[in-house]
Amino acid sequence: MEQSPDTEPNILITGTPGAGKSYLCERLAEQLKFNWLDCSKIAKDNNFVEEHDDEFDCPILDEEKLMDHLEPLMAKGGNIVEYHGCDFFPERWFEAVFVVTCPNTVLYDRLKDRNYNERKLTSNIECEIFGTILEEAYDSYKEDKVFKLSGETKADADKSLKTVKNWYRMYKRK
Ligand SMILES: Nc1ncnc2c1ncn2[C@@H]1O[C@H](COP(=O)(O)OP(=O)(O)O)[C@@H](O)[C@H]1O
Ligand SMILES: [Mg+2]
Repeated sequence: MEQSPDTEPNILITGTPGAGKSYLCERLAEQLKFNWLDCSKIAKDNNFVEEHDDEFDCPILDEEKLMDHLEPLMAKGGNIVEYHGCDFFPERWFEAVFVVTCPNTVLYDRLKDRNYNERKLTSNIECEIFGTILEEAYDSYKEDKVFKLSGETKADADKSLKTVKNWYRMYKRK
């Protein structure tokens, strides 16, 4: 996929479930006039599911089907992609990767509200404590493309909006 210079970039918003990705994406998409692609929702709506994980009580994503669906959209540019993982996307898709993080006590309450089972709750809290997604992002993308954001408070979200919009401004200047 060759991006022409006037093509809008694609950005990835990742992080542990509950960290505040959707909250940020909704506002970003509106302010940047970008297309918000929530991969979990897309997978559910299109049944891009391999099987059900009974232990974690969640569907297992069919990554290939999701990527075939996304490829033509990514070629157009101007997308904000949301997913709680980042290592299986083609690196070339994204001009920037933002990892939303959240203190684990706050995250715990948010996931409790979603009625996650104990196994899933623990697994996601551990994911946040160990910084798993941030590490995954650094392992999968060039360091200067990866940025860490906080999704704890509304003030954090405002700060994150500014960070992403500033990144975009710099990108457009190049
Ligand atoms: N920056 C924030 N400040 C306050 N509440 C937030 C913030 N980000 C998310 N939330 C709340 O936390 C919950 C989970 O957020 P959500 O954006 O759906 O997480 P994710 O998309 O990462 O799974 C929602 O109830 C949302 O309103
Ligand atoms: Mg979400």
